[in-house]
Amino acid sequence: MTDSEPFPLRFFAALIIPMSDTILNEQVASHQTAGTKHHTPFEITKEIEKQADQRIKHYPQDRKRSAVLPLLHIVQSEFGFISPEAIEWVAGKLEVEPIKIEEVVTFYPGLRQHAPGKHHIRVCRTLSCAMGGSYELMDKLCELAGIDRSEATHHNPIAVSPCGTWSVEFSECLASCGTAPVCLVNNDFHEDLPAGKASDLLANYK
Ligand code: FES
Repeated sequence: MTDSEPFPLRFFAALIIPMSDTILNEQVASHQTAGTKHHTPFEITKEIEKQADQRIKHYPQDRKRSAVLPLLHIVQSEFGFISPEAIEWVAGKLEVEPIKIEEVVTFYPGLRQHAPGKHHIRVCRTLSCAMGGSYELMDKLCELAGIDRSEATHHNPIAVSPCGTWSVEFSECLASCGTAPVCLVNNDFHEDLPAGKASDLLANYK
């Protein structure tokens, strides 16, 4: 792999070898949540700083920029999304230009550039779930939560209810195709969920 290849691919290759399963699992879990401090101002606490420094130590000193994904997941886990201020902070920690961090953030759909609601719902839209009614489920969830998805785009796939309680997003396969349609609400997995059960689903979260 050479420096002429896209920055995210170079980062990805650098991450595969040294990253343990534990770290990967933590990252997957953290990017599923809506964030414990969603909609709160970006403010780096000592605890966040400590977490970031610990992550950076997993990599050789001359490869600290390889900690980009762990740091971005810490930010997303804390604030629900990755703001321009967060990009500046991560760039400072890794001693790279902010544009390099922005390239990574815009490359991965799982890294959010906009704030989700208090409860973030990810509806699978891959084949089994689509055939099982996931589009109807999404329509029903939006109807019940008062969400307008017409503004959702590739770069901002999240649509938020006017009250800020709910947000929705389509996701690709969530690895439970045999129990389609499925969705995640924050970190909770829900299976066999036709549109008719949407109201019961929302009633579990307030
Ligand atoms: S297609 Fe939806 S979980 Fe696999």
